[in-house]
Amino acid sequence: EITNYKYYVGGQFVQSTSGNLIEIICPYDQSVIGRVQAISKEEADVAIAATKAAQKVWADTDLFKRADLLNKWADQLEIDAEEIAQMIMREVGKTWNDAVKEVTRTAEFIRYTVQEFIHTNDAAMSGANYPGGSKNKFAIIKRIPLGTVLAISPFNYPVNLSVAKLAPALIAGNAVVFKPATQGAISAVKLIESFDKVGFPADILQLITGKGSDIGDYVSEHDGIDMISFTGGATTGRHLSSFSTMKPMVLELGGKDPAIVCEDADIDKTVSEIMSGAFSYSGQRCTAIKRVLVHATVADELSEKLKVEVEKLSVGMPIDNPVIVPLINEGAADYVQGLITDTIAAGAELLVGNKREDNLIYPTLFDHVTTDMRLAWEEPFGPVLPIIRVASDDEAIEIANASEYGLQASVFTQNFSRAVAIAEKIEAGSVQINGRTERGPDHFPFLGVKNSGMGVHGISRTIESMTREKLLIINV
Ligand code: G3H
Repeated sequence: EITNYKYYVGGQFVQSTSGNLIEIICPYDQSVIGRVQAISKEEADVAIAATKAAQKVWADTDLFKRADLLNKWADQLEIDAEEIAQMIMREVGKTWNDAVKEVTRTAEFIRYTVQEFIHTNDAAMSGANYPGGSKNKFAIIKRIPLGTVLAISPFNYPVNLSVAKLAPALIAGNAVVFKPATQGAISAVKLIESFDKVGFPADILQLITGKGSDIGDYVSEHDGIDMISFTGGATTGRHLSSFSTMKPMVLELGGKDPAIVCEDADIDKTVSEIMSGAFSYSGQRCTAIKRVLVHATVADELSEKLKVEVEKLSVGMPIDNPVIVPLINEGAADYVQGLITDTIAAGAELLVGNKREDNLIYPTLFDHVTTDMRLAWEEPFGPVLPIIRVASDDEAIEIANASEYGLQASVFTQNFSRAVAIAEKIEAGSVQINGRTERGPDHFPFLGVKNSGMGVHGISRTIESMTREKLLIINV
């Protein structure tokens, strides 16, 4: 029997009165995993309104009580890890090992977030430090919550990237309206089932489910939402930013992260970093390496070695823990296949791949991709990697920066000064020297420039984005 999963409001799992349900299809066996509620705008209104009173009480609750509940949630996630991982695997096609790792990474995330906030102390300033200022004036600068945070999470980390918003919001005293990606919504229900077991007060976290096209805009521009934290595609992110008038917003969007390979790089190490950077979870990571910009003098060696490794990649079903798994849905696989077909037609050299079975796209590697081809610029979110040959560091930097995206980049060279010189010119949130592009460890600031985002994620920065300063000024 197929389960109809409920949404969560007022501390209870309830069914929508809309009577509308959305079927969630497994990406790799096409079976119906379950259905989620498509709630109405009126139900969203009720959920948001109820956070208002609850948030005030929550913000007023002793920090150590809030911390204790969040730590209990981390413990509960570890207890429920297998059950949640099972759903992550079924719903978003992540391998079993990665699904389990996602849940344990999330428990660690919560514990660190609690500690980070506990160690955030109020600051103080004296009026006397400003010319003509009074030594009888003191400011105590506190950090207070913004109110109700709207957390919108993507399919590819349905638990981790959700909690990366929920935990900082809650520890700082905010209430949360949590809208997961529809594909990922059942994993979100599982996540909130574990939240529910811990005994948090009602209405400080509401899980709302439904089509973004039905309730997304309505909720985003709702007066009851005080801040939006979104991770997802650049098109949706740009659209959401139109609702940011007087409303703080943090967006973490797509990328086209380049790996720049200099002729003095340690090629074997570079190959291994590019392989895991580009192909893990079939490239369905915003931070995946999505293009290689290699100096022509080492391009043959690099492409031969990459080809050997791509041919060796394990391909299969998530339960068997291969590197390459089926993509999230048919539309995603169609798009990636379209890019592959287009790149062949454009005259690039296909080294490996161009094979598809349903949503499973086999790992595909192209050499001699040029900047007039779509694959040089578009983000596949799939296991397709273009090699672009360059003549100099300047050319690599120019192509890297010509992208609409600027999330991360990798630079591979054994000359540290050269690495730093290149890194300083790259327009991206982070540049990894001799390592793959990736978000973690989770306490590092994480941000993108241009179409890759707005504002900063990462534990301390997320807390900052969900709080504001409030000054108590004491006149002695
Ligand atoms: O998909 C976007 C994620 O923030 C990437 O996280 O680098 O840990 O895979 P990750």
